[in-house]
Amino acid sequence: MKHLIAPSLLAADFTNLAEAVDLINRSMADWLHIDVMDGVFVPNISYGFSVIEPIAPRSQKPLDVHLMIVNPEKYIERFRAAGAANITVHLEACPHLHSTIQQIKNTGARAGVALNPHTPVSMVEDVLEDLDLVLVMSVNPGFGGQKFIYRTLHKVQQLREQIVTRNLSTLIEVDGGIGLQNAESILKAGADVLVAGSSVFKTDQPIETIKRLKLIGFDTILV
Ligand code: DX5
Ligand code: ZN
Repeated sequence: MKHLIAPSLLAADFTNLAEAVDLINRSMADWLHIDVMDGVFVPNISYGFSVIEPIAPRSQKPLDVHLMIVNPEKYIERFRAAGAANITVHLEACPHLHSTIQQIKNTGARAGVALNPHTPVSMVEDVLEDLDLVLVMSVNPGFGGQKFIYRTLHKVQQLREQIVTRNLSTLIEVDGGIGLQNAESILKAGADVLVAGSSVFKTDQPIETIKRLKLIGFDTILV
């Protein structure tokens, strides 16, 4: 499968989110990644329904909603109604993970589980069949612009091995500190989806950067 690119809106100019969404629409991005932070699960607060609701009808790309919140089960139906195509919860925030995954699937959204950098892949093995995606955090969640933690790459490899061995179609998404300098090695480890915030929005050429991330593997012919 050709890999997917999910630019993270967290790194966009918040005084002009409409322009950021339009830019993503014009780009080769596959999904628009939306980071929801509650100030409890992570030491930062971002945005919620009041930002997602107006963005959803404007975005031509599916909304990939990453919930960095405690008790996500309280809000899943509302995030789906707000326009989320994918809903990812953190394993560390879900004592009844199997049940929360079923709740997401019952809304019709794709179901994802995110793993913090210290959380081993073994914690998600027993629900892998039920998942549309596993999100491997390659930074500690809460902030954009952090440095990629290379030790998380072996988790991508472990997940890829399991997915192949068990003949599953679960996607592996990697999130945090990703740019043109390391994207290829992350894809080689087995990632299907790359989230990129700062490396896209903090450059002068976001559309070109998305294109270059998307065309890794084909870049010698097309860029
Ligand atoms: C971090 C978020 C990431 C973040 C990525 O908690 O989950 O999605 O926006 O930003 P960069 O690409 O700047 O590390
Ligand atoms: Zn994220």
